[in-house]
Amino acid sequence: MAGEEEEPWRVLEFYSGIGGMRYSMMRAGVEATMVEAFDINDKANDVYQHNFGRRPYQGNIQNLTAAELDNYRAHAWLLSPPCQPYTRQGLQKDSGDARASSFIKILDLIPEMSSPPNMLFVENVVGFETSDTHKQMIEILVRTGFITQEFILTPLQFGVPYSRPRYFCLTKVLEYAIQWLCFSFLKNDIPIIEKITMKRGADTKSYTAATVVIRGHESAPIAPLAKRKPSIFQNPHVNNQLVWTPSPLLEIDVSTWIDGHDESHERWKEWLQSCKPIENFLELNTPSYQSKSSDCDAATVFCEPLGREVEENGSGYRCPDQYVVPLSLIERLGSAMDIVYPDSKRCCCFTKSYFRYVKGTGSLLATVQPQKMDKVSSLKEQGLRYFTPREVANLHSLPEDFQFPPHISLKQQYALMGNSLSIAVVAPLLRYLFTESL
Ligand SMILES: C[S@@+](CC[C@H](N)C(=O)[O-])C[C@H]1O[C@@H](n2cnc3c(N)ncnc32)[C@H](O)[C@@H]1O
Repeated sequence: MAGEEEEPWRVLEFYSGIGGMRYSMMRAGVEATMVEAFDINDKANDVYQHNFGRRPYQGNIQNLTAAELDNYRAHAWLLSPPCQPYTRQGLQKDSGDARASSFIKILDLIPEMSSPPNMLFVENVVGFETSDTHKQMIEILVRTGFITQEFILTPLQFGVPYSRPRYFCLTKVLEYAIQWLCFSFLKNDIPIIEKITMKRGADTKSYTAATVVIRGHESAPIAPLAKRKPSIFQNPHVNNQLVWTPSPLLEIDVSTWIDGHDESHERWKEWLQSCKPIENFLELNTPSYQSKSSDCDAATVFCEPLGREVEENGSGYRCPDQYVVPLSLIERLGSAMDIVYPDSKRCCCFTKSYFRYVKGTGSLLATVQPQKMDKVSSLKEQGLRYFTPREVANLHSLPEDFQFPPHISLKQQYALMGNSLSIAVVAPLLRYLFTESL
């Protein structure tokens, strides 16, 4: 709950896409009202509306004003801005890329707001943490009185056989009076303030006071407003750090970490061993496949392809033809393909170009166990197929009732899903962010 008013958290979802953040909030069990979602892409908004019954605000986030945002009285902002500025394919133009500007612009509005959010959650690709945009983000957050905890995590660390490492920034605002001082300082509302110094409490967990320097003299400590609940992380040991382990979320002993890393070979072996096999995420070769296909008169696109002509591939199950990888493609690009098997405990990240390009866009599934693993000729005998959109959705841990509306093409489904996120990773991070300590 959102503090002393006992009302649910009021949450804004920026760059909402197909609603990965909202599904993660649901899975996290956070009692929240999703006040508004924002996305410029009409197809993404169609999918969001189809599943949640409400269409996001369809406009450019860059054009939002502080006054408009104030009207939402949101406690938390969830943001997954475009990642192309920071990816290798995106040429790494970083903050010089127009796609990064809406994110910087919206963060810049925070000091201008009279009801700024208390919490932010940011998701992006690995590489963001060394970008100019990240530097600007941290500068704004520190100046406006936020504490951050940053993570790089992958579904493999949460039992899902899917490698999709992503960067996450969780931030909470300091106690209100101190935050107010910071805002005033930033906006130059109290121009006589020359410097603000934060003081930690004896527990070292929270900021209990601040002093200000006015005309060269330091003030007496200014306490947080009494009515405001302090908002701190459950595990403050990792404040202002970047960590590569989910341990802070799981309340595991932090004394064994070295520089935020928990990446020993042993630990990775444990994580991989505890992942379920890929076959648990498949729809086409499970016993439910036949019954699913015959049940599907509700015209979900996941089911539509199953009505098409199918062919036996020698493995004893049937695969709709559009998912079969053509032999000509195997001949040309076989060596660049990432192949996984039903018993694999890992597959590669599905990008928005999956199904259009082969190299580096996601794994292909071999449905026939090979005799020899490394020859292109043997690839042809392995019954290679694409993962279906439902299977990609399963690996993203989207719920079973998630659907695409019928007019979203197969390519669009893969593209929208490639832009989305892993709910298995984001849900525990959000639960951790929204848990009130003290
Ligand atoms: C990385 S995706 C986020 C996907 C989302 N988290 C999900 O679960 O599907 C970025 C999204 O931001 C949207 N977007 C990019 N720039 C935008 C802008 N300036 N204003 C509004 N939406 C924008 C894109 O249409 C895309 O859906």
